[in-house]
Amino acid sequence: TEGQYVITDKKGEKQNVGFIQLNRRKALNALCDGLMKEVSDALDAFEKDKDVGCIVLTGGDKAFAAGADIKEMKDREFAEVYSGSFLSNWDRLARCKKPVIAAVNGYALGGGCEIAMMCDIIYAGENAQFGQPEITLGTIPGAGGTQRLCKAIGKSKAMELILTADRMTAQEAEKSGLVSKVFPIDQTVNEAIKTAEKIAGFSKITSAMCKEAVNAAYELSLQEGLHFEKRIFHATFATADRKEGMTAFSEKRKPTFTDN
Ligand code: HXC
Repeated sequence: TEGQYVITDKKGEKQNVGFIQLNRRKALNALCDGLMKEVSDALDAFEKDKDVGCIVLTGGDKAFAAGADIKEMKDREFAEVYSGSFLSNWDRLARCKKPVIAAVNGYALGGGCEIAMMCDIIYAGENAQFGQPEITLGTIPGAGGTQRLCKAIGKSKAMELILTADRMTAQEAEKSGLVSKVFPIDQTVNEAIKTAEKIAGFSKITSAMCKEAVNAAYELSLQEGLHFEKRIFHATFATADRKEGMTAFSEKRKPTFTDN
């Protein structure tokens, strides 16, 4: 379906991949309130959809997203942004329980880079460019850029990007670990969908647990993280899919997961 700013669809042979394409081409997918609301609604729908096991978020060939909408932000005042609903739809992506793959071609700048980093895996096209140019506007990254970029690529590289507004190429982004793979531009989305189909083929309850445990690595000390992981690991023994997975291996057959 085509909203004002976002196209949503289901992809994959089994139609088990939720697909969200930012489609505000004229403004290089600048992330206005309306666009982020549509993304948030699409995530609500895919999260409810029992068939969807993984989600792909992409933009256009020239721009994944060139950041928050500067024209929309321009005249805002402190009291309004502090107390108001500005940016209220931005956290939705980071709170998604199902795995999300960002397929990034072209510009991923400012908020565009930040929403890519809210995803679980980033695939990049050869023309992708990542950056946090907020300093040029007299502001700073406000949707996780200063925090997630540090964790993704380390302090020195993150500081350099944030303090200079320089952009990082897809190749550099892969080398520094921000991106897991780089593809020719016309293959980025297909490769993301292929990987999403693979993930969606496993138990959804197990993939959600994997995601939860990996994300804990960002929040907890090693001891706490290991403890959390162990508890989640133990919890898999309460699922039918854990039993099915191990039984199927023993019986030399493919498992049939029921997401229970
Ligand atoms: C609003 C934007 C925009 C943006 C591009 N456009 N980025 N509009 N907000 N972030 C619009 C332009 O105004 C223009 O519309 C059209 O998209 C095409 O852009 P051009 O600049 O003409 O294209 P080009 O010369 O190819 O340059 C591409 C670009 C440049 C390098 C990506 O557009 C650019 O620098 N954009 C801003 C990048 C940025 O600073 N992002 C961070 C935003 S702050 P018109 O109608 O004029 O032709 C941010 C903070 C997040 O993200 C904090 C938490 C939310």
